[in-house]
Amino acid sequence: PAIQDLVGQHWVITAGPTMEAIDPVRYISNHSSGKMGYALAAAAQARGAKVTLVSGPTNLDAPQGVQRLAIKSAEDMLAACRDAMATPADVFIGAAAVADFRMKDIAAQKMKKTGDSDEMQLTLVKNPDVIATLSQENAAKCMVGFAAETQDVIAYAKSKLQRKGLDLIIANDVSRTDIGFNNDENQVTVLSKDQQWTPPKEAKAALAVELVELITQYQSTQS
Ligand code: C5P
Repeated sequence: PAIQDLVGQHWVITAGPTMEAIDPVRYISNHSSGKMGYALAAAAQARGAKVTLVSGPTNLDAPQGVQRLAIKSAEDMLAACRDAMATPADVFIGAAAVADFRMKDIAAQKMKKTGDSDEMQLTLVKNPDVIATLSQENAAKCMVGFAAETQDVIAYAKSKLQRKGLDLIIANDVSRTDIGFNNDENQVTVLSKDQQWTPPKEAKAALAVELVELITQYQSTQS
């Protein structure tokens, strides 16, 4: 078992996709598996942290000893995170793939194929940015985000770090088919405002252990 050095800390971690209802039977979502967020939750829990995992719909079991709040939409995710932070958080990690948009109005009844038109239009509105909102509210001492990019990975991640008011951002190149989305392995670069680290490509569970260590070390340099 890992050293219990995170006893007394509360980590709040988002994971998985969000699911935005279109009508009672349809939704907008994405292919996030939730594996990275769940692995991070397990790794922080193993070191003794109290972990709240705010999770969209996934096929994964909650890691042992982790409290899971199951949500569907981005708005629900934000509300659940705020609830979780009733116990003040030391670390917040946004590993969820939050849908950028939701329906302006969710249809109360199943939408029908109408008349002879071959087109239909849905009006979407922007979802709240969960991590940026929480960061503005000083929700946790250490705010950690993810940046999935297909080009100029480091530059885009850095601007996201600043724009969202984060302490650390974990960047990965999702144009690579050997890592990332729905894959068991991942390779990332972790950036703070003035430093960067690149752990080796490895299984998400092993990478999660390294990321929890990196975050813990970063925290200790800040306090
Ligand atoms: O802007 P982008 O979606 O690339 O940012 C990714 C980071 O922001 C991730 O940490 C993700 O969990 C978080 N995010 C969020 N709420 C959104 C969009 C992204 O918390 N609506």
